Amino acid sequence: MSTREELSRTIRSIFRPLLAGTRVSDFQKKFYDLQTVKLPDTLLVHDLEELCRRNGGFLTMGELYQEELYGTHGYYAKKSNTVLTDTPSRWADGIVAICKEFGLTHCVEIGPGDGSLALSMLAQEPQLNWSGVEIAGVLREKIAEKFHSAGRQYDQLVENVGQLRQKDAALYLFVYALDSMPPEVFINTGKKTSAPNALLGVRIQNGMLQEVVLSHKELAQRKMSLAKGVMTIGDERIDLSSWHLMPQQRAYIPMSSLVLLSKTVSRAPKGSRICIIDEFRKDKGAYVSPHLLVPRDPRLYRRDKTNIRQNYEHIGTIDYYFPQYSYSLQKYLASLGVSCVLVDSEMALSAYMKAHHKLPRKPLDTESKTQCFITNTIEKRKKKVVYPLRPEDMHTHSSWEW
Ligand SMILES: C[S@@+](CC[C@H](N)C(=O)[O-])C[C@H]1O[C@@H](n2cnc3c(N)ncnc32)[C@H](O)[C@@H]1O
Repeated sequence: MSTREELSRTIRSIFRPLLAGTRVSDFQKKFYDLQTVKLPDTLLVHDLEELCRRNGGFLTMGELYQEELYGTHGYYAKKSNTVLTDTPSRWADGIVAICKEFGLTHCVEIGPGDGSLALSMLAQEPQLNWSGVEIAGVLREKIAEKFHSAGRQYDQLVENVGQLRQKDAALYLFVYALDSMPPEVFINTGKKTSAPNALLGVRIQNGMLQEVVLSHKELAQRKMSLAKGVMTIGDERIDLSSWHLMPQQRAYIPMSSLVLLSKTVSRAPKGSRICIIDEFRKDKGAYVSPHLLVPRDPRLYRRDKTNIRQNYEHIGTIDYYFPQYSYSLQKYLASLGVSCVLVDSEMALSAYMKAHHKLPRKPLDTESKTQCFITNTIEKRKKKVVYPLRPEDMHTHSSWEW
């Protein structure tokens, strides 16, 4: 970014809130300062305190969200809180047709919820083999019960991809699952616009939560490091250097879904493909958020949850989800060695496939908020792994950020 652009962004960041009648100091405090918040007295908060204590006195934001959503007393542990979509009725024909078109006889579904889509597919195509990877124990029980009552069998039903023993090429299916996986929160603690240089975490003690910038030593305790915008988690290295953040600006980057996709690509048998159906972000310009990719709360009109304090005060009561930029995900997959051969509106595509039982020869609608990606076959190639910020942002940052 040029010095002129940077200067213009800085001036804008000072004057916008003033013009809106907000004092800069109040604005800074609300959106950019690290927060200290009193948490509600709940079983989840007790679990989080204990988790912190056992893990070096801190949690990464990803760990916090993971427990908040999928922990023993997290949002999804309550049977009544299961969040399912209406995809089975729309997509069962489509997925069966995709498998047939690519000659795949096995479907591995990641984040299958209660298994409704699987059973609808098997009702149409009993020869299809199905395996599920579902993190929530309550849902794995539901899937087993539903298969039993329907007199159907699955190949494997496991908690994580590492437990899969997949031998034959398969369609690896992610239906509204990637955006349910918690991000890590990156921040730029420097004085100039730059790539993220630190990760945020929290300390929780005696019912108080304190946001902290994690030290290199603390990151190393989680087998993580961040240098020059390149994030390392275990043996995964992801280049985030194009995420230019303003000082104190945060970016919620979906590390767990990126790592899961990388593991899927490296473990899937040759000839497999990936199919992703999900919500993506297209909100350039219209709505201004001080941070990038903030969590979404389905109960809100605009969905984006910008009030950081409230996130903590209502901990465990909201089914946050985390859509990412379609462009970033497509480029990431390409850098893993699997480019998308089809990107289309999931609604238009499911309707087309219901009617024609095959893939269209040209895209139907690429502007949709919910999209379907299908990749080429996995051939175990891996290049330099990048997760770039979508191209529009690289040029128009200043027009839509504070
Ligand atoms: C919004 S629900 C969608 C469920 C279903 N695919 C549907 O469309 O109705 C997200 C699902 O992903 C699961 N999930 C979240 N993180 C996961 C992970 N790391 N591995 C496997 N499943 C996960 C959740 O438990 C839940 O079943």
